[in-house]
Amino acid sequence: MQTTTRAVTGQHQAPTPVTCEPAKSLYVELLVPRPSAAARERAGHYLADQLKTVSTLAADLPEDPEGLEAWVLANNARVGAQYRDYLAARKAGAPRRYFASKAQALYFLRGVAPTKLVDGAWLYGTLAHWDDLRYRAPIQIYLEELGDGLPDKNHVVLYRKLLARHGCEDLSQLSDDHYVQGAIQLALAYHADRYLPEVLGFNLGYEQLPLHLLITAYELNELGIDPYYFTLHVTVDNAGTGHARKALQAVHDALPTEGRAAFYRRVVQGYLLNDLGASTTSVIGSFDLEREVIEVLAEKSNVGRYVHSDYCRIGGRSVSDWLGDPAQIPDFLQVMQEQGWIRRHEDPANSRFWRLIQGERAEMFGVFTVYEQQLIHDWIAGDFVHSGAKYQAAAERVAVVPRREISFRARQRQQERLCPALEAEQGGAANASRAQSSDFDSEEAALEQRLASQPSRAAAMALLVEQLSPARHHSRAGLLATRLFVSLLG
Ligand SMILES: [Fe+2]
Repeated sequence: MQTTTRAVTGQHQAPTPVTCEPAKSLYVELLVPRPSAAARERAGHYLADQLKTVSTLAADLPEDPEGLEAWVLANNARVGAQYRDYLAARKAGAPRRYFASKAQALYFLRGVAPTKLVDGAWLYGTLAHWDDLRYRAPIQIYLEELGDGLPDKNHVVLYRKLLARHGCEDLSQLSDDHYVQGAIQLALAYHADRYLPEVLGFNLGYEQLPLHLLITAYELNELGIDPYYFTLHVTVDNAGTGHARKALQAVHDALPTEGRAAFYRRVVQGYLLNDLGASTTSVIGSFDLEREVIEVLAEKSNVGRYVHSDYCRIGGRSVSDWLGDPAQIPDFLQVMQEQGWIRRHEDPANSRFWRLIQGERAEMFGVFTVYEQQLIHDWIAGDFVHSGAKYQAAAERVAVVPRREISFRARQRQQERLCPALEAEQGGAANASRAQSSDFDSEEAALEQRLASQPSRAAAMALLVEQLSPARHHSRAGLLATRLFVSLLG
């Protein structure tokens, strides 16, 4: 479930712009345990606007829903052939198609995060119909997105861990366009009854196996990034028994006898919603390594301008002076290159600036996240990373890894932790940790108690549906609720 119809169709039609509310604010308002009535209403207007936007686009879907199965199989075969061509080209020495550097791969993981963090959300509204067999296929897909309540299979949990592992959790710099898909998905979550054909059409598009998913998984793995979130989707989206097939089943099960053509037209409109906002390929294509490095340093300058002493001088000016105006960062980088602080297109270990960030006695240890370090590292390395076979092995060796050497200050902190005088404080921290764990347990216990007091299976299911919302299902209580929902659904 990774695709956009751009990938399936190869078309690129510019949607007609219409006025709509900002995606990010709607996303934030809907991704809470209980979205307000006003937020839900806004979601309805937002969906209507987005549907208006796609109403002029053409879809590559068959005119008759009877042709959908052949369409799914043909798409699968085409993507399979394209992937074989890609692998053959790589084997013949072609460079990576998507990620020139590890920094670009992390930029991608971060850029598509708003979408991935609500994975499956568009189907949430079907859960309320758990007793109606026509909804069984989309409900099964939703539950599988939630890993049936197993944390190591829940797609949102997996993605959150992936972001955390690489220091990519800060999404504050992403544009509104990055939130469009997530906002659409959350809006569909809370309007399934009003927009069921569109929900099923969106699902049909999203669950097809796209070429970019296969390539992404392959190249992430090459760069030493766990591709499991992506390989998992290669298997769950398969056209034989996976989500691509179930999505097709969901459409057929819901098609009414009367009004079939009108229903299907709305399915097609929902399918086209996949084309809006930032996509996998547009996020990857928007990467500009130098611009990202400048943005990171400009953002750090807000604090950095106050913490350097006047003795830190580069190019005749104090570092504080350089950092006083973010617009000076490009010039600052240029001067650092001219003065030998940065030696581009070499092993970054040769650059004094890099050694301040990562290395023995690194003065700026902890200033930059793992993601930010990767950006700076790959920008300094430049052609050293990109220059193919001759330097490839060396380039891989210098990729950002956890530091083995620690700075003096970090060593001081370690020693302080060993100081007996701090044992009492440590004991307090350990108790706080146990209390936190206990709180988590109590949340699960409270859920079980509330369930036991429900007067009927329907009441119990309604209670569980609340816990399976996009904002909750990946919490411990949400995961427990998912396992219970699966077992009660039968
Ligand atoms: Fe998923």
